[in-house]
Amino acid sequence: MTFAELYERVRPEIALFLHEFTADHVADERLREGCLHLLGRGKLIRPAALIAAAETFRPGIPAAEYVHAAAAMEFIHTFSLVHDDLPELDDAKLRRGVPAVHVKFGSALALLAGDALFNLAFTALQEAPLADQSKREAILTEVVGAVSGVIEGQVRELALSGRDATLAEIEEVERLKTARLFTCALVCGAVIAGADAGRIEALRSFALMLGHAYQIKDDLLSATGDSRTVGKSLEQDKVLERPTIVRLLGVEGAQARFNQVNESVLSALEHLAETANVSLLRGLHEMLAAREK
Ligand code: IPE
Ligand code: IPE
Ligand code: MG
Repeated sequence: MTFAELYERVRPEIALFLHEFTADHVADERLREGCLHLLGRGKLIRPAALIAAAETFRPGIPAAEYVHAAAAMEFIHTFSLVHDDLPELDDAKLRRGVPAVHVKFGSALALLAGDALFNLAFTALQEAPLADQSKREAILTEVVGAVSGVIEGQVRELALSGRDATLAEIEEVERLKTARLFTCALVCGAVIAGADAGRIEALRSFALMLGHAYQIKDDLLSATGDSRTVGKSLEQDKVLERPTIVRLLGVEGAQARFNQVNESVLSALEHLAETANVSLLRGLHEMLAAREK
């Protein structure tokens, strides 16, 4: 099975789970609508990454073992986007091809829908049918670390906006706000599959680089992409003078840095390939490196 085949298979499964789980756990109709508004419309790349890691370390692993954790990644990511788009942060009007949650439902409901999505992530993790409590503990450790990364990264980004941030400062923001949740997704997949500590650490190095490359590409798409194709507001980085690699190095410099980071992704993958069959992870990387939205 290639990553593309896996991705095609799991996307509808994850989207359905996200909808049903939300419908079952959010009682208030308006809050539920606010939560559902963006769910399932994104690329679902974090849940797919979790599943690719789980399949890497235990081929044929039953979906029931990973679907709650996979959904938790998307609940957290979507919560972060709902809040990120609020007028007080990026003030973005378009998200996943539709009006942002605050545009459609107002800021008060968007704040609360973000809170509810965040809570759905932990509800899903609590309900995950894991055979072994130590796996749940390991997953929670990854998740709380990743969420603190998202929040700290967003705060640091605000503090650096409009200033001349250094490359090191910018890359720290990218690592915190994006790479850590990516890493969390991949590591949680490996934990669920029962991978040993050595392979998990090799996977972590790969995942951090992959997540870093993902955010550089996001910044490149914001600078050069088309808002209709990408499905979200793209001008905010520039208008709000966000500390991005494109702002520091220009589009060509950012593209060069993107290529460099992708070389590091490949080296980390080669290291992991010494002890695991990395074909799904290689396919994931190839798809992300080539993405146009
Ligand atoms: C956008 O994430 C924000 C980042 C952290 C880079 P995605 O590009 O994965 O967005 P969706 O989930 O597909 O909408
Ligand atoms: C996304 O950051 C939000 C988080 C990672 C929490 P960005 O502001 O860079 O991403 P987009 O462009 O809005 O998707
Ligand atoms: Mg934004």
